[in-house]
Amino acid sequence: MRKTVLDPQPGSYNIQNEWIEDEAFEWEDVHRHFSWYETGKVNMAYECVDRHVEDGKGDKIALTYFSDEERLTYTFSELQQEINQWANVLKRHGVKKGDFVFVFLPKHPQGYIAMFAAIKVGAIVGPLFEAFMEEAVKDRINDCEGQYLITNQTFMERVHQKEIPSLRYIFTTDEAKADNEIPIVKEAEQEEVTVDVEWVDLDDGLNIHYTSGSTGKPKGIIHAHRNMIQQYQTGRWVLDLKDDDVYWCTAHPGWVTGTVYGVFAPLLNGVTTVIHGGRFSAEAWYDVLETAQVSVWYSAPTAFRMLKAKGEDLQNRYDLSALRHILSVGEPLNPEVIYWGYESLGLRIHDTWWMTETGAQLIANLPTRPIKPGSMGRPIPGIEVAVLDEDGEKLPPYETGHLAIKHSWPSIMKEVWKNPEKYQSYFPYGEEWYIAGDLAYLDEDGYVFFQGRSDDMINSSGERIGPFEVESKLIEHPAVQEAGVIGKPDQVRGEIVKAFITLGDGYSFNDELQEEIRLFVKGKLAAHAAPREIEVLDELPKTQISGKVLRRELKKRESAAITS
Ligand code: WT7
Repeated sequence: MRKTVLDPQPGSYNIQNEWIEDEAFEWEDVHRHFSWYETGKVNMAYECVDRHVEDGKGDKIALTYFSDEERLTYTFSELQQEINQWANVLKRHGVKKGDFVFVFLPKHPQGYIAMFAAIKVGAIVGPLFEAFMEEAVKDRINDCEGQYLITNQTFMERVHQKEIPSLRYIFTTDEAKADNEIPIVKEAEQEEVTVDVEWVDLDDGLNIHYTSGSTGKPKGIIHAHRNMIQQYQTGRWVLDLKDDDVYWCTAHPGWVTGTVYGVFAPLLNGVTTVIHGGRFSAEAWYDVLETAQVSVWYSAPTAFRMLKAKGEDLQNRYDLSALRHILSVGEPLNPEVIYWGYESLGLRIHDTWWMTETGAQLIANLPTRPIKPGSMGRPIPGIEVAVLDEDGEKLPPYETGHLAIKHSWPSIMKEVWKNPEKYQSYFPYGEEWYIAGDLAYLDEDGYVFFQGRSDDMINSSGERIGPFEVESKLIEHPAVQEAGVIGKPDQVRGEIVKAFITLGDGYSFNDELQEEIRLFVKGKLAAHAAPREIEVLDELPKTQISGKVLRRELKKRESAAITS
């Protein structure tokens, strides 16, 4: 019989149960960790890099990069100097406080340097996922009329400048090919290794991430420098980061997990951070875990399921003995996967819950607490959650309703760019409760059990996909008349994108057309948004009054097809 509760592993952890139990914790207690507590001078880049150099950790490895071709390391001093040189280039070309600087680069230390250089001059950085195609890139930069972009010539093929008129300069990490292109690496070499940091207020803009909902185009979620309070503290308590850890978060900074827990949280905690360039492969990932001697590892259920599927023989070929703490985020972590980790790696996998808008983890399985497989854990100290009914009233244990977070916490989004109504929509029952859009129930111990979304958002491999964006793209294809897109349950990816379409006159459906339509979406938006399945219907279910496609009906149809 498998255990229904997994007890904490013996060990000494940063968080102690007494602190959780006496509930005396205040976020303000964390302020004194930061240099601004004394100096009043705030900047995320400073707290992540410079202060460690000033604390005597300049020679410690900050970043260690692995790819098939290359291995690179940066000490905190080297990182600081390079960031400063890049920041000087940005300044010289007019980048200033409050400007948007987009970063479109692969998983590589240069992406980190670019982000910090932008932050250091007070700009708001917008990291873009490396697999975005031209329209995904264009929509995001256009939405906030971004003036600056840091990228390379290969990625530039997906940047259609004529359609992004706000772009003033493009900083390229390789060569420059046009008048408005600036070879940032080359110019940085000529710059001073020191820079005047642009000091900001805690509430000033830090970064922007575009995120999908069930309606409309992705929305720009802006976060502030104050996020560091919660990002540092969750790095300490939830990730349990300690000075000698080697930490690897597998997400690209184009996703909020990659920025918050791949860049900010580990560096705020001054630990050695691993960057793996390239795509997922079980062999490559185990190799990184072994070679880098990763001790703390933050990844996602789909990746764990893929590793599990590769079997223990492969896993046994690697020395993973340095691993001591594993975490997961982004999609439901099935008990099966937790047992896989427990049995094959001898470690618990700690689920965590948060979202782009929340800026940091809010619910988690803390290392010192029992895990109930199937639950995402409990609210971390300083956070209160509830489950509310349709009227905003609290529900008792075991009743499913809207997952709600007591407003506010340090890392909550600052605003939704140019969309105050959207911001307000997270507070349908008033200012007291932030409503996530997730359905959940609590048990009698306050453990949270995720039950799905209350809207049509799709979650495939932990990536958030808005059906509207995919539908809009589908109907641009000449063969597609109408489209309705849903998430179809999938063993490995959680959900896959499935499109129901009606065909235009004169078209008949076959494998080639299906592939053509799929590639059409993939080529314009991004691979993860392209429907893996397309089904043709004579007619799509619609609401009688407005004629909107009823995705719920399509979902019902799909689950009926699966169970029948
Ligand atoms: C949505 C947020 C910032 C984390 C990465 C995704 C789903 C997140 C879990 C979890 C089940 C989860 C929710 C949430 N989600 N974590 N542990 N178990 N579902 O951020 O792209 O903003 O998506 O991801 O539905 O609302 P995101």
